[in-house]
Amino acid sequence: MLQNKKIIVGVCGGIAAYKTALLVRQLKQKGAEVQVLMTPAAHSFITPLTLATLSGKPVLTQFSQPNTGEWNNHVNLGLWADAMVVAPATASTLAKMAYGQSDNLLVTTYLSARCPVWVAPAMDLDMFAHPTTIATLATLKKHGVNLIDAQEGELASGLSGKGRMAEPETIVAILTAYFNPASALRNKKVLITAGPTYEAIDPVRFLGNHSSGSMGYQLALAARQRGARVTLVLGPNSMDTTAFDGTLVEVTSAQEMLDACQQVYPKQDIAIFAAAVADYAPANIATQKIKKNTQKLTLELTKTPDVAYTLGKAKKKQQFNVGFALETENEQTHAQKKLARKNFDMVVLNSLNDKGAGFKHTTNKITIIDTQNNILHFELKSKTAVANDILNEIEKRI
Ligand code: CTP
Repeated sequence: MLQNKKIIVGVCGGIAAYKTALLVRQLKQKGAEVQVLMTPAAHSFITPLTLATLSGKPVLTQFSQPNTGEWNNHVNLGLWADAMVVAPATASTLAKMAYGQSDNLLVTTYLSARCPVWVAPAMDLDMFAHPTTIATLATLKKHGVNLIDAQEGELASGLSGKGRMAEPETIVAILTAYFNPASALRNKKVLITAGPTYEAIDPVRFLGNHSSGSMGYQLALAARQRGARVTLVLGPNSMDTTAFDGTLVEVTSAQEMLDACQQVYPKQDIAIFAAAVADYAPANIATQKIKKNTQKLTLELTKTPDVAYTLGKAKKKQQFNVGFALETENEQTHAQKKLARKNFDMVVLNSLNDKGAGFKHTTNKITIIDTQNNILHFELKSKTAVANDILNEIEKRI
């Protein structure tokens, strides 16, 4: 849900800094890339080692690396981030942010940041209620900073009142909502096929193709990010799929892919067929490893089931099917024929003549064709960006 989002977590010197460990962990679990910045005072409350380990990146505090003199570039950090959250935000750091007192890396980065900024204050109840703090927060609000309000409860001082830092779950939920605005795909059931299929020849060999599954996987992640209920039917692959929190069904052959899809298809709102299904499979699978004792070997192949075609025939009026077409010549004509034959509502055309498109690349270049014969050409982009373009076009049509 925060896949590939770059988030700066600023940590100030307050006892609530222990909760920042959980915050960093949860942001990472949701797929975010996290850069922790600490004020010097924060080091008294939580170790940089803890936060560096949880974030998977060295923590930054100084303007430069003490040993090498290398500059910790606050301008680049500010430009890098998609969001910045200061948690806990102490009275001192909030005041510095409000008045631009840039005497540490955290505040300097805040001043350089172009992304939205959240602050989660944490302090004793009287500090929080002090007119100075109230005025500071009002100034920050005027500057566009978002407040994650402090909570009432028991405070480290032993007193009870308002001043507790918001729980990490609350902060993560606020950031998740920001990056996942209401989408027409929210709560929609989306079936996605991805990856190659392997068709067994004997117990050790198969027929397959070079599909990595990454285009379908990026679609699955992007659809989850928009709140869709995603079932990903995925052929053999070597991807790390831990960031996907929908339903994952792993299959090997075209027949298994069809069986898995047929089980869930009647309940789906949308189906996206991104898999590179093998078109032919050996007619007979040898039960033992085939020995090389002849000069020639002929394999008899039979057609595999066409998942998209089969489900296209079963498609009901309210369902929306999207196919892919990987072509090398007469691309648009072939894609339009596939659109009609497989009863697609939209087809995503990849031309292998386009550099950086198709298998084995982290990028893709697509053309989208719909049943009204609208033809949309897109630039070469990362597969994540392509996935979002495809979902945007689906959203416009459902
Ligand atoms: N497809 C499928 N099952 C198959 C073959 C293809 O679900 N057995 C789907 C693909 O996932 C894709 C679309 O059908 O969405 C078109 O796939 P493609 O390989 O381009 O077309 P084919 O129908 O296999 O035609 P050809 O290989 O002859 O171009």
